[in-house]
Amino acid sequence: MKPTIRLLDSADQSPWKDSVSSTDRLPIRDSGAWIDTKHKLLTYYAHLFATGMKNSWKSRVYLELFSGPGRCLIRKTGKEDLGSPLKVIEHEFTKFIFTEMNAAVAEALAQRLEPFENAANTEIWCGDCADAINQIQIPSGSLTLAFIDPTGIAHAPFSLIETLHRKTRCDLLINIQHGMGIKMNIHQYTPDAGEQSALTKFLGNDSWKQLPRHNPREFFRGVLELYKEQLHSLGFKRDCIGREVLITNDSNTPLYLLLFASKHPKGKEFWDKAMKGVLPMEFDFGS
Ligand SMILES: C[S@@+](CC[C@H](N)C(=O)[O-])C[C@H]1O[C@@H](n2cnc3c(N)ncnc32)[C@H](O)[C@@H]1O
Repeated sequence: MKPTIRLLDSADQSPWKDSVSSTDRLPIRDSGAWIDTKHKLLTYYAHLFATGMKNSWKSRVYLELFSGPGRCLIRKTGKEDLGSPLKVIEHEFTKFIFTEMNAAVAEALAQRLEPFENAANTEIWCGDCADAINQIQIPSGSLTLAFIDPTGIAHAPFSLIETLHRKTRCDLLINIQHGMGIKMNIHQYTPDAGEQSALTKFLGNDSWKQLPRHNPREFFRGVLELYKEQLHSLGFKRDCIGREVLITNDSNTPLYLLLFASKHPKGKEFWDKAMKGVLPMEFDFGS
């Protein structure tokens, strides 16, 4: 069964002009080899979450806010791989919700999900996820895993997380753009920046203005700590926030961080297990 697409006014309906898959001729997302680590961590965690929580939570929801088309093209090798929605669709969640801004991409995702049994329990919201999140209904009494995978910090304001938190009990896996999102734009983040500053929206306040700005790396670290504080203020436990994984490109340049947050020690236990299962032995796993 093909998942229902809920089209919102904010949807981008422009025709698809980028690459298409050589397998099904549908839109495909250009990417780098580094998506492999992101997808492995996500799927390892999603599997532990969906099966491990089966007896305690009848309703287990997988929510992905920036879903993409379900297929990626690894630029360097020319090889295609599945996108995150297709990597998790066979896991033991009872409901799947995806949001995607681009209509052609959302349609490609719906077609690619159609053959799977769980497609019957899947909805796709096409439009800005900041609109979609206000309308999405999550069954009460659900435990949700939310994967938030934007291409820049401007797309993921903290108000998104606050709304999500009001709607459902959730664990979060958030992709935070490192170089492009914060470090390389440090020149824009000056104390006179207004309320519309991407960083103010991302953090949900302008506390970043107090951070020293002479060293971009330290500035980024400071922003990250403020973000974790914001998560803590919503009830995510301090010792279950963070343990972030830095994803770098082929030349070891940091691209983004995967930040994990949960309200329960079980979440941290699963995330630690996922990190140990996926990351190389030499990774610093901390305490
Ligand atoms: C990084 S890609 C997603 C990749 C996918 N999660 C994966 O790993 O296979 C981000 C996607 O978010 C979509 N997007 C960008 N801004 C959005 C918004 N405000 N709301 C919903 N989707 C958005 C883009 O069209 C793009 O397909």
